[in-house]
Amino acid sequence: MQLLDGKQLSNTIKEELAVQVSQIKEQGEKVPHLAAVLIGDNPASESYVRSKVRSCEQVGFESTLIRRKADITEEELLEIIAGLNDNSDVDGFIVQLPLPKHINEDRVTLAIDPKKDVDGFHPVNFGKMAQGLPAYLPATPFGIVTMLDRYGIETSGKECVVVGRSNIVGTPMSILLSRKAKVGNCTVTLAHSRTRNLSAHTLNADIIIAAIGIPGFITGEMVKKGAVIIDVGINRVDDDSKKRGYRLVGDVDFDSVAPKSSFITPVPGGVGPMTVVSLLMNTLRACRENQYE
Ligand code: GUN
Repeated sequence: MQLLDGKQLSNTIKEELAVQVSQIKEQGEKVPHLAAVLIGDNPASESYVRSKVRSCEQVGFESTLIRRKADITEEELLEIIAGLNDNSDVDGFIVQLPLPKHINEDRVTLAIDPKKDVDGFHPVNFGKMAQGLPAYLPATPFGIVTMLDRYGIETSGKECVVVGRSNIVGTPMSILLSRKAKVGNCTVTLAHSRTRNLSAHTLNADIIIAAIGIPGFITGEMVKKGAVIIDVGINRVDDDSKKRGYRLVGDVDFDSVAPKSSFITPVPGGVGPMTVVSLLMNTLRACRENQYE
């Protein structure tokens, strides 16, 4: 079993990005600028956004954090988005999800200019991705693809089960892994809450992507020996022995699954840091090339 160390790999990629940024600065060209919009005080969202802003600083990007209270109206949020769309200094921006219940997330996503949609959530980017056209790939699936690539894990012809069909992870992941591409060419099964006999699928899988948001859902008896395990879950479970009162656990029961796997991502320190670095890669691209030209 080998750990897929997302923390280390993301640091390597950040160093590569920092070199590119210093070259950009030496040449007097525009420095990439990411803006993040954070609504309310969801502790997990705060922590993710903090990590995104800190990562921008680490690589030398400009960053802007726009914070508003949870009682902001949808109209007010849409005005902020329109302002960011029009602000030529901002190359890309994200609106951290989830949003308060009274705000329609679909309307918010649709309001983002696809050219600045470095989360890759807008249907224009999603559609381009699905057709294999140049697009901003959603950060978590992009991070997973990058990790499989950099670790030299062969995907071609492999059986892959993606568990969870969210718009931001499971569904795009299933599309990317089935594409005709260097990381791709898998035979993909997209499993979800209505899937019957999930174990019959996962036991046949060479690669399992767990993205359902249920702590420890994938257990050792569901996994074939030698499988590659990618754990997307970042679940907070109460733990009085920790100073902050909780610990982070994945969707995979690491202790029973790890001994059967060939490669496995830890939680924390696996997919999470790769997601952040993917956002940075998309932002650099938004600054350097116009994929719509
Ligand atoms: N909430 C959970 N993951 C993400 C993400 O990748 N981007 C945004 N904007 N919100 C999220």
